[in-house]
Amino acid sequence: MSVALADKPKRITTHVLQEMKIRGEKIAMLTAYDYSMARIIDRAGIDLILVGDSASNVMAGYETTIPITLDEMIYHASSVVRAVERSLVVVDMPFGSYQGNSKEALNSAIRIMKETGAGAVKLEGGKEIQESIIRILSAGIPVMGHLGLTPQSIHKFGTFVVRARDDEEAKKLVEDAHLLEQTGCFSIVLEKIPARLGAQVAEELKIPIIGIGAGRYVDGQVLVLHDMLGITQDFSPRFLRRYHNLSQEITSAVNNYITDIKNLEFPNDKEQY
Ligand code: KIV
Repeated sequence: MSVALADKPKRITTHVLQEMKIRGEKIAMLTAYDYSMARIIDRAGIDLILVGDSASNVMAGYETTIPITLDEMIYHASSVVRAVERSLVVVDMPFGSYQGNSKEALNSAIRIMKETGAGAVKLEGGKEIQESIIRILSAGIPVMGHLGLTPQSIHKFGTFVVRARDDEEAKKLVEDAHLLEQTGCFSIVLEKIPARLGAQVAEELKIPIIGIGAGRYVDGQVLVLHDMLGITQDFSPRFLRRYHNLSQEITSAVNNYITDIKNLEFPNDKEQY
């Protein structure tokens, strides 16, 4: 069943998301990194668009999210914002742009807001980055948190396995989630944690909790667009549902194009002047 856009709010804001949580309406979020894709998913009715630092993997081909720069994130985000009429656009603050000190964090967040026109920023971490979050919020910039498997810390974790399986890490995650809410974050992404922990956090917190591999009892879900469309092929975590096999469709379209050229079937009489 397609979503009736006429029944939905014209523009998604952090307040609209809060109301959705109160109503028990699930929130749908996807990543986008460019104008054309952002335009399609915004018109399809997605609530939130994340200009994720997964652009580092998906768009630039790096192994991790560490190398992508603030300038590169700003380029991706401004392309997305130009396409979007309805969704709330959230931009990942890249590694190195907020961990150093809170003044640098504020300057990076201000650049993102001024140079892209996005509606919010996302930062990875809990207590360790609280000072940066406070400073960004003090400038009136909405902040989304990100806990659990935080890919910018991959070299600390050493592996992409499920986080917070043991009691100690689970306790810290719940404490961090409460801290982010008290500090003023409007929402939190929980990545790759046990479903019962995702459910607990969503139940205890008033702000919307968006999961990626955090089970179904959270307030919304996010996936990387290129993964769910089947453009990427070599990444198959359990939480990923592929809604399409676009890689195969693109390959077949390109094969047909090549064949038509080789056989002098493209362009035909109607396709020339
Ligand atoms: O960068 C990203 O795409 C993300 C999502 C996985 C939540 O942070």
